Amino acid sequence: MNVIGVLTSGGDAPGMNAAIRAVVRTAKYYDMKVMGVRKGYEGLVHGDIFEMTARDVSDIMHQGGTILQTARSLEFKQIEGVRRAISTARYFGIEGIVVIGGDGSLKGARDLCTEGMPTVGIPGTIDNDIPYTEYTIGFDTAVNTAKEAVDKIRDTATSHERCNIIKVMGRSSGNIALNVGIATGAEAILIPEREIDFTRDILGPINAGKKRNKKHYIIILAEGVQDSDGLEKQIESETGIETRTTILGYVQRGGSPTVVDRVYASQMGSYAVELLKDGTGNRIIGVDKNRVFDIDIYEGLDMPRIIREDLIELSKILSI
Ligand code: F6P
Repeated sequence: MNVIGVLTSGGDAPGMNAAIRAVVRTAKYYDMKVMGVRKGYEGLVHGDIFEMTARDVSDIMHQGGTILQTARSLEFKQIEGVRRAISTARYFGIEGIVVIGGDGSLKGARDLCTEGMPTVGIPGTIDNDIPYTEYTIGFDTAVNTAKEAVDKIRDTATSHERCNIIKVMGRSSGNIALNVGIATGAEAILIPEREIDFTRDILGPINAGKKRNKKHYIIILAEGVQDSDGLEKQIESETGIETRTTILGYVQRGGSPTVVDRVYASQMGSYAVELLKDGTGNRIIGVDKNRVFDIDIYEGLDMPRIIREDLIELSKILSI
């Protein structure tokens, strides 16, 4: 292939810029032309497309967000939208596309493949919730941002002997919560993959902590488990411990990417171009045992979700 397109789609994630940079620089290295698509599939459908030079990606590696911007396109969810996107891409001379995004975006990439546009997907989402890969771009930065916030909240929790609930993102996945909870020594980690029993999972650790003279109670609540207001009131009324909630929200999506995110994003971006250069589409890229690899897009996206049982177990042992 000589002309490829690149877009970012869905929720932005720190490290997407490093992936874009790697796509552009690797393509230039092989004398290929790169067309940047603005605002994800929306830009592909409507032709918001421009040619990128190696200099367009200077000074972007350290920036959060995505220089190509992103969107969640309703039009692209319809088959007519996918077909229109492909004919627009062809009009711009695009022979293959690199899509950087989360679960929904990679399914969009699969639709492009099905309709005849060779596409390579790169997992980019802070949620780290895509089963075929152990890593998604943005996860490391997000959990580090959340970890710093929880460390700060712990200082004030100890001073007041309070219970603090910290709600983290993750859509329907508990991966952010589980990792942040272990990294901050939380008393309880509540994730959507496990049914929550208030007495066993919340009262139990708080009362055990009280007996051991703990001075704070940190509860990490994953998005998609339950409303934090109700939980806060229930904890206060059943334990008598003052309880406060912090919803971290979009702070987890921004910021300068960590080294881990920059290096994986660079590897994945470059790998995607290597595939397209040789005419190989219909693949998605992932990480397995710290190595970047590719897999058939249909096979990869069909894999069932798993949760790290070992981490759940570890968090219980360490929070006593
Ligand atoms: O997928 C990333 C994510 O931040 C999720 O953790 C969260 O549920 C969702 O995106 C929020 O999406 P939006 O940007 O549309 O509010």
